[in-house]
Amino acid sequence: MAGSSAFLKACRSERADRVPVWFMRQAGRSLPEYRRLRGEGSILEAVRRPELAAELTLQPVRRYGVDAAILFSDILVPVAALGVGLDVVPGRGPVVHEPFRSAADLVRLRPLEPEVDLPYVLETVRILAAELDVPLIGFAGAPFTVASYLVEGGASRDYARTKALMHDEPATWHELAGRLAEIALATLRAQVAAGAAAVQLFDSWAGALSRADYERFALPSSRRVLQGLADLGVPRIHFGVCTGELLDLMAGAGAEVVGVDWRVPLDAARRRVGPRPALQGNLDPALCLAGFDAAASETRRILSEAGGRPGHVFNLGHGVLPGTDPDVLARLVELVHDEGRP
Ligand code: CP3
Repeated sequence: MAGSSAFLKACRSERADRVPVWFMRQAGRSLPEYRRLRGEGSILEAVRRPELAAELTLQPVRRYGVDAAILFSDILVPVAALGVGLDVVPGRGPVVHEPFRSAADLVRLRPLEPEVDLPYVLETVRILAAELDVPLIGFAGAPFTVASYLVEGGASRDYARTKALMHDEPATWHELAGRLAEIALATLRAQVAAGAAAVQLFDSWAGALSRADYERFALPSSRRVLQGLADLGVPRIHFGVCTGELLDLMAGAGAEVVGVDWRVPLDAARRRVGPRPALQGNLDPALCLAGFDAAASETRRILSEAGGRPGHVFNLGHGVLPGTDPDVLARLVELVHDEGRP
């Protein structure tokens, strides 16, 4: 499978027999079979049950016919396993009970030992590697994005406390980002050792930073994670939202693939990143709620902006939105497979 997968070929900018497609946040949200199986409680509990997590990973692969699976887990699972004191509350999202505010909080982030701290995640990966006939994407949160939850205490609009920490106490910030980089790196290396065929580094909120702040406070630790994976030989995907002004910097961090949200057309993104990295994206997830015809015409535009050049992984520009009709996603997969010219 591995060598012939359209997804892995596109990640390496090699010509494949079709444009591969998968959807960020393809598990859950829109799938009735997810809601039936998942039950109540925090996602952190579901992730601790390998058979369940494996099944939740497989559901969208069966339903949509996508070219890759993404592990059912969360970017906050590793720091939660270290005991920082966080919950992912259904309907509300992540909550850190005592947010990180000073150098004294750094002791709460000891080094991660994946086999000891996250055995259930690695067991899920092993089950999936044996069962899947498409590649499994492992993932981790980039230091900036994970730090934003630890510092803000949850989701944020303006990242004010995170930015204040960067500028007021840069040494503390760099130590925090450095520890989170080691945690992400250990997580991803263990996922690959257990059978993940590609990895995605989610720096979802990096687009909140100016170029100068991104270069100084976020890029170095993300680069450390991506470059620390180089010897493993698996494709690395580097993703964020609202990152149009950062794409060239992200492309220099070491990944084979750079994610693009819907705000920048793929032909413009290509000019910003240069010839090397493959591009992943970039349908606006909201259009999937507009109905199939609207989503289909945008999909055709995106395929044409990709220009029939190898190195395009079709995806949404961000995750599947709640309320999306699963049939729209299934039909989009067919459309990309039928009409995409890699
Ligand atoms: O389908 C997949 O993509 C696989 C699993 C996955 C989850 N989270 C499961 C999840 C992945 C790849 C993530 C990544 C993640 N988690 C990111 C980066 C991607 C992005 O959206 O930018 C971020 C920022 C988080 C943090 C997080 N986890 C938030 C903000 C929330 C709550 C709101 C929401 O998005 O639903 C979660 C909870 C979460 N993670 C759920 C799922 C399926 C939802 C609820 C649940 O079933 O408990």
